[in-house]
Amino acid sequence: MRKPLIAGNWKMNTNVDEAISLVRAMVSELDKIAGVEKVLCPPFISLATVKELVKNTSIQLGAQNMHFEDRGAYTGEISPLMLVNLCQFVILGHSERRQYFAETDDVINKKVKKVIEFGLNPILCVGESLEDNESGRTEQIIARQVKAGLSGIKPAGQMVVAYEPVWAIGSGRAATGKQANSTISLIRSTIAGFWDNNTAQAVRILYGGSVTSSNIAEFIAQPEIDGALVGGASLKANEFVGIVSQTASLKSTR
Ligand code: 13P
Repeated sequence: MRKPLIAGNWKMNTNVDEAISLVRAMVSELDKIAGVEKVLCPPFISLATVKELVKNTSIQLGAQNMHFEDRGAYTGEISPLMLVNLCQFVILGHSERRQYFAETDDVINKKVKKVIEFGLNPILCVGESLEDNESGRTEQIIARQVKAGLSGIKPAGQMVVAYEPVWAIGSGRAATGKQANSTISLIRSTIAGFWDNNTAQAVRILYGGSVTSSNIAEFIAQPEIDGALVGGASLKANEFVGIVSQTASLKSTR
């Protein structure tokens, strides 16, 4: 059985002091919740500080991006060598990276390979735009993004995929549980075809896009959805704790 996972993607929010306050406001509550993997993804500059604050707890950390080279003349970038002792997960291919920083499937694939090489867990984001959705191209876009992201990579059960329809991100217009479940089921069968069914059954696939403590139950109740990648609601301690605790009561593998 797949262990549910809830990750909070703080995006470009919080300075170091604010990150400390946010973690302090939720660390003990979160730590107590069993049966769900809890992952905080603060901005790079706060990772080391947050690592100290969650030391000896059940909370794990993730980075929001990573360069695919180990080191070198890439001003402003963060390499796997810098992350390997700081976090367990790395979000890759987020639609905001694809849209605002021109990340292509090819670049994202190089990053996924590196994350796996370094023993970290990739959270590969895929999702269709509103235009793709309205013109009935969702399946095609998602299958392309999944196959391109995994290209040349040996079956890896530690892979996490996040289905984040672009139109649902930050819009308050979440997908329905049924919609998300059906696309996630398609992602799983794409992985099964690309790798094999056993690996596809081990890969956790999350939903992301306007998840809150008021709608998480609808997603978690779906059989194919293994958790959530939460943006805005992860910046509020009560909301995030609420999302994780509902996930634990509905889907815990304790
Ligand atoms: P929101 O939860 O703010 O819609 O963001 C979702 C997201 O992009 C998480 O990576």
